[in-house]
Amino acid sequence: MKAVEIHQYGAARDVLHFNPDAPRPTPAADEILIENKATSINPVDCAARSGYGQNFFSRLGWGELPMILGRDASGVVVAKGRDVSELEVGDEVYAAPPIGCYAEFVTVKAAHAALKPGNLDHCQTASLPFVALTAWTALVNEAGLTPETAAGKKVVVPRAAGGVGSFAVQLLKAWGAEVAAICSTRNIELVKSLGADTVIDYTAQDFRDHLQDYDLALDLIGRKSDFDELDNDYKGGTDTADGSHYDEQLMSVLRRDEKAVYVTVCSPKVAFTNKYGYDEGIRRAGEEYEKRAAIAAQSGYRYIWSFFNPDAVSLTRIREMIEAERIKPVIDRCYSLADIVKAHEYCETKQAQGKIVIDIT
Ligand SMILES: NC(=O)c1ccc[n+]([C@@H]2O[C@H](COP(=O)([O-])OP(=O)(O)OC[C@H]3O[C@@H](n4cnc5c(N)ncnc54)[C@H](OP(=O)(O)O)[C@@H]3O)[C@@H](O)[C@H]2O)c1
Repeated sequence: MKAVEIHQYGAARDVLHFNPDAPRPTPAADEILIENKATSINPVDCAARSGYGQNFFSRLGWGELPMILGRDASGVVVAKGRDVSELEVGDEVYAAPPIGCYAEFVTVKAAHAALKPGNLDHCQTASLPFVALTAWTALVNEAGLTPETAAGKKVVVPRAAGGVGSFAVQLLKAWGAEVAAICSTRNIELVKSLGADTVIDYTAQDFRDHLQDYDLALDLIGRKSDFDELDNDYKGGTDTADGSHYDEQLMSVLRRDEKAVYVTVCSPKVAFTNKYGYDEGIRRAGEEYEKRAAIAAQSGYRYIWSFFNPDAVSLTRIREMIEAERIKPVIDRCYSLADIVKAHEYCETKQAQGKIVIDIT
């Protein structure tokens, strides 16, 4: 099969290797084999390519080189393991496996895949699973939002024009929340078109001057110093001129109330495992979490580090919202698999408006 592999960590043009004859994977008993029509680029792919998370991902069994990166799949089931009953050969599905999607064929646990939205093509569909499940895990599984409880809640979403942000804004608006989105000037129109009630242009405004008494902050940026010391290209956070941390600034617009929630998808947990090794990194991350959660608790609100969680039930609910046209894919541009270096380099400019998609066909 055609695939893009890495045999070592490094810059996109040095290590992304197009292989026209890579071995096709075989599904385990609980897996399906997808003929993958499209995938997309996520910042974590670029970070992982550079060596970010290698101790963490190795421990989870995803770290062996050569490796095929890529976390979004949209395609057709062409084989399945003996224990799979929920999906059939021929089903058109979408999923977010941990690795392996920069390829014509990819395996995934059947419990992590769902029928794809019928109203989208494969490129549109592949723009969604990883970012949608990341937003869903943070907002629904962790912060506890439902269509009923979200209605009327005031939620602030920075990095609103990115993949996770553009999905989160649409989900929150579909459920009746009041959304303040933060972005740069060039993204204002895009973010307004997603339904945001208030748009803060961070290049001209300090969001703290405009937002007060919010119920929920979804942090998609994180604390810069959590990522600074990494010996690779990954730079997650952005802190502002007055020297305070970005996460602290977001928390400062929350209501002082135990029902208010700060939830971040940009915690330092994986970065700590890079710096200290897996076991020590996890121990230190646990200590850091307790410290930060205790400070947040003094101000009265819940403090959460959220990590993407794959599951077919959430993907099915997401599909229903897409088919009802309550959520639309936001796609910046599309590349072929052979042009994946350009796609990674574009992702690393951090300028993408929505998603960067790869058409594998
Ligand atoms: N915990 C998890 O499981 C999990 C899962 C997925 C993603 N994540 C993390 O979530 C974050 C958002 O991911 P994404 O896929 O939505 O990102 P993305 O699509 O690459 O975000 C692109 C947007 O980021 C903004 N941006 C530009 N420079 C930036 C900078 N220096 N720092 C921060 N933002 C900048 C730009 O908008 P403006 O020009 O408007 O600023 C751009 O439109 C990433 O850090 C990613 O690693 C975590």
